[in-house]
Order: sequence, then structure tokens, then C-alpha cells
Amino acid sequence: MTAAGNGAQAESGTPLLEVTDLVVHHGQLRALNEISLQVFPGEVYAIIGANGAGKSTLLRTIAGLHHPTTGSVIFDGTDVTRLRPERRATQGIVMVPEGRRLFGSLSVEENLQVGASYARQGPWTIERVYEMFSWMRERRNQLTAQLSGGEQQTVAIGRALVANPRVLMLDELSLGLAPVVVQRIYGMLPQILGTGLTVLLVEQDVSQALRVASRIHCLLEGRTTLEGQPADVTADQVEAAYFGLADATPASPPGEGSEP
Ligand SMILES: Nc1ncnc2c1ncn2[C@@H]1O[C@H](COP(=O)(O)OP(=O)(O)OP(=O)(O)O)[C@@H](O)[C@H]1O
Ligand SMILES: [Mg+2]
Repeated sequence: MTAAGNGAQAESGTPLLEVTDLVVHHGQLRALNEISLQVFPGEVYAIIGANGAGKSTLLRTIAGLHHPTTGSVIFDGTDVTRLRPERRATQGIVMVPEGRRLFGSLSVEENLQVGASYARQGPWTIERVYEMFSWMRERRNQLTAQLSGGEQQTVAIGRALVANPRVLMLDELSLGLAPVVVQRIYGMLPQILGTGLTVLLVEQDVSQALRVASRIHCLLEGRTTLEGQPADVTADQVEAAYFGLADATPASPPGEGSEP
């Protein structure tokens, strides 16, 4: 079973998050080139792509950590493109950053308290996180620097959850973790989605993304090369979109595109 139950019917509703023609520069580098996407309530939307494709730049721009050159980010009908990151967090845009970024010299519980400091009202509390992960309660006074990579990733997710996100953005959960740990972490998704969350995730492991996502969006050098539901894209299309092979063009409607 995939975690993404609502993908198919979701597209008929109103998007929770809408990114339109986003262009982002890092200095001279055009890291994102007119990226558009719509994420609907309750879905798991996955951004895939190789190193340097612009995946983290996209999530960080949605979180307010990079300012776009042009384009817009609309969240629940409100233009948040110019809002500061803390304001976006209190509206429900919360990110688990690549590399977790926990405070290693703080305890598990202190890290969770950091997450709660910009929290919205909602179902998630530190107590609720401890109910979901009982080991965390037992080790709440331990410094996070002493935890394993998988444990740190779980604390990072807990820290995001206590902020009561409406859209939870996850940047490469699987980075540096053993496959069995990755499976365990992704196994939590249905429970998280069950509290009404929407998930936007970045994943380099394409088969993992295809397993959990209602829709995937492939970036290559800052451009969209493929977007669709996992059931509607072939392995060859995904591979071509990911690596930029000559036949990367996703299936286009008849009559479009160049003549042979
Ligand atoms: N703060 C920054 N300053 C300058 N260049 C940056 C910055 N952040 C990212 N870049 C560059 O922008 C491009 C996109 O980077 P980004 O981190 O978004 O890619 P990514 O898809 O997340 O890659 P990875 O899979 O390796 O995490 C890369 O060429 C990267 O070197
Ligand atoms: Mg990245």
C-alpha cells in the first residue's frame, strides 16, 4: 500500500500549495527555471532529480529561505512569496531540512521544544510525538549528537510535527541511512498523513519516491523534465527525465512537438 491515498481525486479540488513560474538564482546561477507545481490536500508529492537539480532550492524557496527572482508561492489561497520563514511556519509550511540540522548539543526534548516555538494550534504535541516514538521519551534527555542517523532523522521529523504543519516538506529523508531504516521512516507516513497533513518531499531514491508518492515531479538542472502520477509514467521516461537522456521528453499529446 502506498502512503498516498488521495492523489488521484485530489486534483479536482483547490491546491493547498501552488508554485507558479518560480525562478531562483544563486548569484549568477539560475538554479530554478520557471518551475510550477500544485500540491493538493492530503497528497504526497515527490520531487526527484539528481544532485544539483535544484530540489533543495525549491523546498527552501517555498519555506522562505531563498527569495525568487520571479514567480509566486501561494499557500491556501494566500500569496506568501514575500513572507518571512517564521510567518510561513506559523501558517503551516514546515520543513525537515536536508541533513536534519538538529542542535547536536541540545537534548532530544530541547530540539522538540525548538520545533514547538513557532507552532500552530493542532494535533501534534511533544507528548504525541513520544506516543508515536516511545524510545524518544526514554531518551529525551540524551544529546541528539549521540543518536544514530536514523534516530536523528526521526527527531527531526518530530521537531517538524510539533510545529503542526499543514504541508510538511521533507528533504531527502533517506540520505545516508540504511535501507531498513529508510523503510521504517517512510513507514510512518500513513500515520502522519492520517492527522490531515500534506507532504511535499524530495527524494533521490526514485523507486522510494514512486512507492510513496501520489505524484512525482522530476527536476534536471533547474528545469521540469517530467510530472505525473507514478502509474502513468514508464521507468524509461523517469530514467530519461532524471539523467537528461536524449529521449527525455515525456509523452506529449498527439500532434504536439516537432515533426520527425
Ligand atoms: N546557497 C547557495 N549558493 C550558491 N549556489 C547554491 C546554493 N545552494 C545551492 N546552490 C547551487 O544550486 C544548484 C542547485 O542546488 P540544490 O542544493 O538545490 O540541488 P539539489 O537538487 O538539492 O541537490 P542534492 O541532491 O545534491 O541535494 C547547485 O548547482 C548548487 O551548487
Ligand atoms: Mg538537496
